[in-house]
Amino acid sequence: MAELLRTDRLLVRDWSVADATAALKIYSHDDVVRWLPELDRVPDAAAMHAVLQGWAAEQSEMGPGTGRWALVLLQGCVLVGGISLLPMPVPEVDVEISYQLAPEYWGRGYITEAARAMAHWAFAHSLVELFALVAPDNARGARAARRIGMEWVGESDKYYRTHLQVFRLRPDDLVCAAQK
Ligand SMILES: CC(C)(COP(=O)(O)OP(=O)(O)OC[C@H]1O[C@@H](n2cnc3c(N)ncnc32)[C@H](O)[C@@H]1OP(=O)(O)O)[C@@H](O)C(=O)NCCC(=O)NCCS
Repeated sequence: MAELLRTDRLLVRDWSVADATAALKIYSHDDVVRWLPELDRVPDAAAMHAVLQGWAAEQSEMGPGTGRWALVLLQGCVLVGGISLLPMPVPEVDVEISYQLAPEYWGRGYITEAARAMAHWAFAHSLVELFALVAPDNARGARAARRIGMEWVGESDKYYRTHLQVFRLRPDDLVCAAQK
């Protein structure tokens, strides 16, 4: 499994089909999947295996600076979440950052740490801005976006056929967020 980057507490690496059991704890959890407009709840290990196979197949065709990765705690090597940089459904030139964490690991700053590192990586790989799409009542998701340094730019119905808040991150926002 290729490693993408490390932070103080986390490893960001490619997904593997061997992650199916740990990934299922994230992508079958109602508190996570209710906020994911592009993914239905994954019902069982076989379905999770198939999803991971699909992600692996897509990964090889992704453009520079985009993909889907697993988040693993360095201490104990526990898979706790996922993070992705994917072309937005409309228009395809923009890139969306999204992240999911197993609920038992919420509230420890893991996503703030991982998403900031991913954004630095993305900006070093020729991306000039990133977007996050957050359901209006997903308060924790919106807090995470703001904590990374993202700016709220509006609300839109054009993505995933649902009403979503749009946040944007540019390199300067990342620098300012790090100074807070
Ligand atoms: C969105 C989601 C990833 C955020 O998880 P999270 O644990 O709140 O975010 P972080 O890991 O960055 O942790 C931040 C929280 O930990 C606290 N924290 C503790 N130690 C911290 C540290 N070292 N650094 C930063 N925050 C820390 C913060 O105060 C914050 O808690 P608060 O929001 O209650 O004030 C998670 O809720 C999730 O998986 N939701 C479902 C999927 C989703 O909504 N994704 C977003 C749409 S893309």
